Amino acid sequence: MRIGTPLSDTATRVMLLGSGELGKEVAIELQRLGAEVIAVDRYANAPAMQVAHRSHVIPMTDAQVLNGVILAEAPHIIVPEIEAIATEVLAGIEEAGFARVIPTARATQLTMNREGIRRLAAEELGLPTSPYAFAASAQELAAGAQTVGFPCFVKPVMSSSGKGQSYVEGPEGVADAWAYAEASGRVAGGVVIVEGRIDFDYEITLLTVRSLRDGAIATSFCAPIGHRQQKGDYVESWQPQAMSPGALKAAQDIAAKVTDALGGLGVFGVELFVKGDEVWFSEVSPRPHDTGLVTLATQVMSEFALHARAILGLPVDVTLREPGASAVIYGGIEAQGVVFEGVAEALSVPTADLRLFGKPESYATRRMGVALARGADTAEARARAGEAAGKVRVVAP
Ligand SMILES: Nc1ncnc2c1ncn2[C@@H]1O[C@H](COP(=O)(O)OP(=O)(O)OP(=O)(O)O)[C@@H](O)[C@H]1O
Ligand SMILES: [Mg+2]
Repeated sequence: MRIGTPLSDTATRVMLLGSGELGKEVAIELQRLGAEVIAVDRYANAPAMQVAHRSHVIPMTDAQVLNGVILAEAPHIIVPEIEAIATEVLAGIEEAGFARVIPTARATQLTMNREGIRRLAAEELGLPTSPYAFAASAQELAAGAQTVGFPCFVKPVMSSSGKGQSYVEGPEGVADAWAYAEASGRVAGGVVIVEGRIDFDYEITLLTVRSLRDGAIATSFCAPIGHRQQKGDYVESWQPQAMSPGALKAAQDIAAKVTDALGGLGVFGVELFVKGDEVWFSEVSPRPHDTGLVTLATQVMSEFALHARAILGLPVDVTLREPGASAVIYGGIEAQGVVFEGVAEALSVPTADLRLFGKPESYATRRMGVALARGADTAEARARAGEAAGKVRVVAP
């Protein structure tokens, strides 16, 4: 692997499709390794744009516009950061050998739709999952919910971060769940998945890295990350999550199978439910995972450094340094150009660190920053991260 000089004819150009807080950290790591970084998103001044060489504001779901930007920039590597992308364009680019898509164009296509990844995991790979059905109407949903049983989760097949999701306790909740999913599904067409609830003890993200080692692709696992979700969005995470040897083995086996099937190079966030020694596959991000922000505090190389290294064909080190935790800082208000108060107090909490993402606009439920902390164990780290996050106040300008 050779790396050129940014902004010259020899540059190693990497294009990020999606420029949020995860992309910002990936961009910083790519910059450190001397790559030329081009950030793309649908709004101006997105976090990764602020640390990139260049940026473009385009509707990434518009195939023609997306293709145009890729052809004009001629990146060597394309790194999707979000799911809402015209992924068929990436398939064409990859097929033509014009650029490498991370991890692969097919992986981005399969994982942007819950139906694609669920059928691959459950039906082709035979991995344990929650019972599920797909529905394209309120009637089909009612029937599907009966099949998988109550309580159940209803999710638009094209959605992330809990958007359009409902937890349904009985048949009387089905109609509302359908209406809610339809109203907030990302792409028209209105298909939902209904999943029976897994009564898990805890849930984890198993960051799994596919990287080159001695010329062949090797799979490495980070220590498991535990996390707590509220309304389908993560509020805190910690690493390591203690697991029985049997559960850890089952989790790694599932992660190896699903990432092998998706292929390519890079970090994957494999989401799993655990009860005793039993493990269920939930979903997978073919990219760094939001709950993995904790690795900024805990690992020798964060998930973002791992991703940058892996996609450039460089060796990785997944060693955990010490226990840590992350706690999300929400906007809480609707305003542009918000101000963060209490930063010094937050950083006075022992071991605490902050990432303020620099998003131009705050909404009540928008993730504006994250507090990180370390500790002798995850309990201490969680208490510290929570305390630090609680000291940061987002106020109108
Ligand atoms: N079948 C299920 N059984 C039990 N809990 C579930 C189930 N499906 C979802 N959940 C809970 O809801 C959370 C969000 O679900 P899921 O990961 O499918 O949605 P998402 O929108 O992709 O969320 P994110 O983007 O934050 O990962 C899960 O992490 C889990 O806590
Ligand atoms: Mg999820």
